[in-house]
This record gives sequence, structure tokens and C-alpha cells, in this order.
Amino acid sequence: MPHPPAVEAVDLVKTYGKGNRAVHALRGITFHVAPGTVFGVLGPNGAGKSTTVRILSTLAAPDAGHASVAGLDVRRAPDAVRRALGYVSQRPGFDPMATGRENLMLQARLQAVPARQARRRTQELLGRFDLLEAADRLCRTWSGGMQRKLDVAMGLVHDPRVLFLDEPTTGLDPQARRELWDEIARLARNEQVSVLLTTHYLEEADQLADHLLIIDDGRIVAQGTPQALKAALGSDTVRLELPDRGQAERARAALGALPGVSGALADETAVSARVADGVDALPGVLAALRRAGVRAGSVAVASPSLDDVYLHHAGRRFRETVPDVPTASTPGSTAASASTTAPTSGGGGREQVQA
Ligand SMILES: Nc1ncnc2c1ncn2[C@@H]1O[C@H](COP(=O)(O)OP(=O)(O)OP(=O)(O)O)[C@@H](O)[C@H]1O
Ligand SMILES: [Mg+2]
Repeated sequence: MPHPPAVEAVDLVKTYGKGNRAVHALRGITFHVAPGTVFGVLGPNGAGKSTTVRILSTLAAPDAGHASVAGLDVRRAPDAVRRALGYVSQRPGFDPMATGRENLMLQARLQAVPARQARRRTQELLGRFDLLEAADRLCRTWSGGMQRKLDVAMGLVHDPRVLFLDEPTTGLDPQARRELWDEIARLARNEQVSVLLTTHYLEEADQLADHLLIIDDGRIVAQGTPQALKAALGSDTVRLELPDRGQAERARAALGALPGVSGALADETAVSARVADGVDALPGVLAALRRAGVRAGSVAVASPSLDDVYLHHAGRRFRETVPDVPTASTPGSTAASASTTAPTSGGGGREQVQA
């Protein structure tokens, strides 16, 4: 790696309580965050996400292991670590009875930002998060999305190089979530802020994280780029809808005979098979169908989703563990015969072509 990591965690262990009441929040977690990237920590409730962030922010001490932020050891140099990072807690951190501007100014002064600089930074952050219009209204009158943006802005008042966001978008509607995603991505891309965010939204992890750590029950389940994690599962699914009943078996045999195709299955009006790369395999699949005299109504290619990744490594579906995952990211949604659909986020990326 050309630069030292923005965050390094090595063998972090944390247990709350003792004896048969002990809760093993972290059982040995190791990762590093490359500078200027968005690092996602994805896990169901109780996985250990907040514990990880609290240790990195010096708010909790690990029982074993060590961690550093911006090259500073969290145990040996906690004050310097706190100056280097911005921390946005899972719970709201603003004062509802103060205005947005007052909240930002107070936070800046708590971070020892000089008054004139604090005023300038407050104005700049209000503008950047699109909060200027409401800036001088009490925050209790703000929408949930505006309030969460204020929390994130408050984490940035002292211009930290590393930002920890603990579930920044939980409970937000899809549009507010997307606005916050844009701002978080911009922080990393344009300002080289290193962002570590926790989430239990598959879609958020998939869209936003350059690198992803999936944790469950205090352990790492998998880590890598979202693309690599999905690609490591090794297979896409190709699904053909057949307008003429009775052609399915012929289509299945034609597909099954192709090199690189496995698990070809037919029902009355559709055939599906697994291939390493669906888009690469499509021309061969379509040619084989033509040779066999089969007419396909539509062809859909679905790539593995992060839910498939989680299932593969944790042995259960992620959405079985989280009650409020939006249904929009459900993989394997019904294929329509539209000419092209954008890949569905989070759930299986799906591309579709008219055969
Ligand atoms: N202060 C504490 N005292 C006792 N147990 C705790 C404490 N903090 C966390 N835990 C336990 O440690 C485990 C991990 O909690 P943590 O808050 O890190 O999970 P999380 O992944 O952030 O979950 P969520 O998605 O619900 O926020 C849980 O079983 C939790 O109950
Ligand atoms: Mg948490």
C-alpha cells in the first residue's frame, strides 16, 4: 500500500460482562482502511459494529488487540486520535432545542476551533448539506433526513481526515438516504476523507463501500470489495423465458451441452442455468438456442447479490436477520421482458436483453 492505512484494527476483542452473562461483542477483528476510501462494516443487529466504531473512537477500550487512526494508537494517544477523527454516533447527537447553526457552532467550539473559523466552517457545512434555509430554525422542527445530515456535518466541523459514521442512514426514506450517500461519496472522492461507516443495508454497502467487512456475532464473515465478494461466488444465473410451451426440455439440453454451463433446470415455460459470467456467456447461449430451433421470449442475467455472499459465508440469509431491510433490494425479482433494466442495487445485479 502506498500510504499508511487511515485506520488499522488488529485482533480486536471485546467482551461485556462476566461468566455466563458475558457477551462476546468482538471475537478478534482485523482490518485496515485505505486513505480516501469508503469502508463499510455490514452486519445484523448485535454483530459488533458499534463496538468496533466506539473502540476506534476511543470511547471504549478493547480487551485485547490494538488499533490506530491516522497512524495514532488509540490507547497511547487518545487525545490526538480524537482530534484526527469525526464521530457520528448511531443515536442523534444534536440538541433539538437549538438551531442548526447553534449546534454546529457549539460543536466547533467543543472541538477547539477558533471562533471566526468556526463561523466560516458552520456556514460552509450548512451550504454543503443543503441546510442553509433551515439553519436558524430549532432542529426539533427539521425532518429526519435534515437532522441526520446535521449529525454528519457536526462530525466534520474540525475538518477531520477520518470520519466514523455509525448507521448514518437508518430510518431515512430512500431519497434522504441517497442524498446522504452522495455527500459521503463526495467526501471520500473530492476531499480524501477516509470514511468508515456501519450499516445493515445491503444496498448501502453495495453502492457506497469501496471495501466491505461483513461481520456477524463478533466475527468477520467475509471482506473484500463488494464486486470481488460477489464474483468469488463464481456464478451468474441465466434465465430464459420461452413463449412456446414444450420447448423447455430442448432448451435445457442445448444449454446443458455448452461448456461452462452447469445446473441447467427447466420448468414448463422457463429454463435457467449457472454460468461463470452471464454477460460473456450470452452470445453462446443465444447461438445454441438458435441451433436447437428454440425461440426465447426474454433472457435475464442475474449476478450474485451481497445477500448471496452473506448466505454463503454465514449460512443464513442476511434479510432473515434484519427486520427492516427495504424490499427494493430483494434479489431475484421477477424478470419482465423489458429490453434493458438497470442492475438492481444490493440485490442481484440483473441485466436483461430481448432475445
Ligand atoms: N455497554 C454494553 N454492555 C453490555 N453489552 C453490550 C454493551 N454494548 C454492546 N453490548 C452487546 O454487544 C453486542 C454487540 O453490540 P453492538 O452495539 O456493537 O452491535 P451492532 O452491530 O452495533 O448492533 P446494531 O445494529 O443493533 O446497532 C450486542 O450483543 C450488545 O448487546
Ligand atoms: Mg450499532
